[in-house]
Amino acid sequence: MSDGDGELEARLVEQEEFEPSDEFVEQANVSDPDIYEEFEENWPDCWERAADLLDWEEEYETVLDDSNEPFYEWFSDGTINASYNCVDRHVENGDKNRVAIKWEGEYGETRTYTYQDLYREVNEFAAALRDMGVEEDEVVTLYMPMVPELPIAMLACARIGAPHSVVFAGFSADALATRMNSADSDYLVTCDGYYRRGDALDHLEKANEGLEGVDHDVEATVVVDRLGDDGFGHELAENQHDWDDLMDEQRGERVEPVERDAEDMLFLMYTSGTTGEPKGVKHTTGGYLAYTAWTSHAVLDLKPEDTYWCSADIGWITGHSYIVYGPLALGTTTVMYEGTPDFPERDRLWDIVEKYAVDVFYTAPTAIRAFMKWGSKFPERRDLSSLRLLGTVGEPINPRAWKWYYKHIGDEECPVVDTWWQTETGGMMITTLPGVKNMKPGSAGPPLPGIDARIVDTEGEEIEPGRAGYLTVNKPWPGMLRTLYKNDERFIDEYWAEYSDEDADEWVYFPEDGAKIDEDGYMTILGRVDDVINVSGHRLGTMEIESAIVGVEGVAEAAVVGGNHEVKGEAVYAYVITEDGYEGDDEMRSRIIEGVEDAIGPIARPEQVVFTPELPKTRSGKIMRRLLEEIANEEELGDTTTLRNPEIVTDIQAKVQGD
Ligand code: PRX
Repeated sequence: MSDGDGELEARLVEQEEFEPSDEFVEQANVSDPDIYEEFEENWPDCWERAADLLDWEEEYETVLDDSNEPFYEWFSDGTINASYNCVDRHVENGDKNRVAIKWEGEYGETRTYTYQDLYREVNEFAAALRDMGVEEDEVVTLYMPMVPELPIAMLACARIGAPHSVVFAGFSADALATRMNSADSDYLVTCDGYYRRGDALDHLEKANEGLEGVDHDVEATVVVDRLGDDGFGHELAENQHDWDDLMDEQRGERVEPVERDAEDMLFLMYTSGTTGEPKGVKHTTGGYLAYTAWTSHAVLDLKPEDTYWCSADIGWITGHSYIVYGPLALGTTTVMYEGTPDFPERDRLWDIVEKYAVDVFYTAPTAIRAFMKWGSKFPERRDLSSLRLLGTVGEPINPRAWKWYYKHIGDEECPVVDTWWQTETGGMMITTLPGVKNMKPGSAGPPLPGIDARIVDTEGEEIEPGRAGYLTVNKPWPGMLRTLYKNDERFIDEYWAEYSDEDADEWVYFPEDGAKIDEDGYMTILGRVDDVINVSGHRLGTMEIESAIVGVEGVAEAAVVGGNHEVKGEAVYAYVITEDGYEGDDEMRSRIIEGVEDAIGPIARPEQVVFTPELPKTRSGKIMRRLLEEIANEEELGDTTTLRNPEIVTDIQAKVQGD
């Protein structure tokens, strides 16, 4: 079968709406179209349906407490433990031998954890954390790649009521230090290294370097030995412990799950915003777990007997919600893969789908664009017939990529859910319920039942279908962030606006995305409206990158924008003014790239560094980023009349096009 021509292709190109098959609908967890109305009429009590998926220690009586807007509380008089819900209850319910985690290393070695295995290891590590002195409510930082010890450590933290803060392993030493400082975290769990495209990477060196930047005493560090004989031979310091030694010491230990208030913090997740400083998004135990379990059930259609694979990294919110908490709360088998999709060959992911007979697969549009580029011969080599449902997340998916995914991975049998959500929302917000709604490629879909999302103009008024506006969420939901860690003021400033109409004051949540809606209420997300860019589904603040560049010797000023990129979606374009006496040459360019990698990580690496004597500025001295974006995208330039230095624009343009 070729990628391009044929009758089928023509039909796919023309077709705007796709129906789920009868077979899918019949078996779907949610297939009754009345659910939208039911949730609306019965709001907020409708959310009991999510909370009922969990086992509560103390049943809640209040669903929503909105007495202190926008600091909403959910199920606040209930108590619950997330580790109990993701592990113990499945063991107690007779499912101890069901596989909880299937892990595959880059070299093909595998590890299988049943719920009983998970129970044992989570308990032992919880005991180890306690012995090291970790107390309830103390933040434990986890700086780990995709190894099974990461979800085990998360669940062990949850068991003893110590919130975790997972720092993506691809982030730099500086990024680790910033996050440990911000969270005032005294404990670190990390790893000696991991494999990427066949090479062993030294992770502990980066972790140790990060520890040097921590501004307070770190009580203890735990190091997982992933590399064995391929390790880099680091000696552990006095307060550094080997994971296996700790587990040996704790063999057979059991730790009672701590009874947590529903509103107690489950974890912190740092994400990028408009300013240079990352934001510590706080998620709580009851509402978050109920919401991720509910959306895993209703959108991902997960059943306990499924093998489910989300190819994200646990270092991002997608992995927290839909590799760890949602699927494990439902007692599903969740797959974890350590490596890259093109190692040893470009069919690696399909090899894994075939090997484990994956039922539901969830990935990012950037990966799909790469698969498209590589061609359909790679998925065609493998038997993908086990798949029932496909999903995407992280950035807009264009109809072409959607259709490729639908056809070449799903064989036109599997519904595709394009799920819009954010670190802050905790779980999916806008997408089709696959057993209820038709799909429209390129559009995420309507808001989920119980979610009041709208598209508004600058005044907060709803706008008509087809026109671009701002996305808002006008009612709270259980998975929402509760605040920014230790910064309630910034939480309100960044996300909330209060509108008052005749009836009441209304608090409105701003996700900072542009969007439009069609006549059927389907929403198409157009991208960020703040200074955040989305590189391969990874969220990066332009200010963070700019401050890294300005930190490089010889740089006077920098402006960073996102330019379109065929595979990554967006790529980092950096426009840089050098100080007098410094040359904008290749050496300087390398130092800038290195500076960004050191401050943030390789994901933020600029695609292009353009040296310029000036940046386009308005008369009031503001950099006109819109123009820089247009230049990066080689688009026709908009109005330049408000510029103080319009002549610089053609100069920069010539440089970018010449590169
Ligand atoms: O711009 C939206 C985009 O990703 C942003 C959230 O990034 P982050 O907090 O890192 O979470 C990513 C994983 C949930 C959003 O503000 N985004 C996410 N999903 C979609 C999307 N844009 C379009 N379509 C989506 N399905």
